[in-house]
Amino acid sequence: MELGELLYKGKAKSIYKSEKDDELISCFRDDMTAFNGEKKDCFSGKGAYNASVSAFFFNYLEKNGVKTHFVKMLDERTMVVKKLQMIPLEVIARNVAAGSIVKKLPFKEGQILNPPVIITDYKDDERGDPSVNDDLILALGLLTSSELKEVKETTLRINKLLYDFFDELGMVLVDFKIEFGRYKNGIILGDEISMDSMRLWDRETKESFDKDVYRYNKGNVMSAYGKVVEKIEGWKKEHLK
Ligand code: ATP
Ligand code: TYD
Repeated sequence: MELGELLYKGKAKSIYKSEKDDELISCFRDDMTAFNGEKKDCFSGKGAYNASVSAFFFNYLEKNGVKTHFVKMLDERTMVVKKLQMIPLEVIARNVAAGSIVKKLPFKEGQILNPPVIITDYKDDERGDPSVNDDLILALGLLTSSELKEVKETTLRINKLLYDFFDELGMVLVDFKIEFGRYKNGIILGDEISMDSMRLWDRETKESFDKDVYRYNKGNVMSAYGKVVEKIEGWKKEHLK
């Protein structure tokens, strides 16, 4: 399948038209950004790592009854996805306090959040992606109340599946961000699930294996991402014989 017209170049992915009207091609680039694009770099192989982890989780979620936009891989960094009408919300699930929640509220880094906390940010770079509560989501007409209920329930479901998965690998899923979009008559999971969009700690040492390694210069980001890929490959060998 050939890449069609470039429709959108984001900070980490490029979205192209495909041969089919209801599908797009999502190419995971090696670009890495943090702090709303203020810090920028390029790491050879990073796109392929994130694409393979995203593809793995989309398959894993589908097997567990969660609908996603994933269709197939074209090459190691490129996937075909269903074309969604994206809902401009970053839906963040948190199991442990870290990052912005510790800066904004009196939580201690590492404090367990049980039950998990869902936070929704309105996707608008110029406005700095402000946090919006349920009433604002409804008032802005982003979702109906039944859709909002569904998005939150699905997010908690995904959180439980991913948390338990990483737990088996000796890692703690601290938090992650997902995006949803409309497809036909429903709302399904889009975008990506990768080390760029989650916090992942070693259960014992609390070492980071995610974008925080890059954000806060904690070490070699490619070797951190590579370890996650390696652990997932190991899990596949065990479970997908
Ligand atoms: P941010 O990092 O704030 O999410 P971005 O636009 O820079 O913004 P990228 O991941 O580089 O992020 O770009 C991918 C874009 O493609 C996002 O705007 C995302 O909402 C959109 N997108 C993801 N999946 C789909 C899909 N299945 N159909 C249509 N658009 C999609
Ligand atoms: P958060 O702590 O709100 O922001 P920051 O990473 O700037 O401290 O992030 C929570 C989780 O969601 C974290 O794993 C990163 C992810 N995330 C994104 O992938 N993109 C985003 O635009 C935001 C705000 C968060």
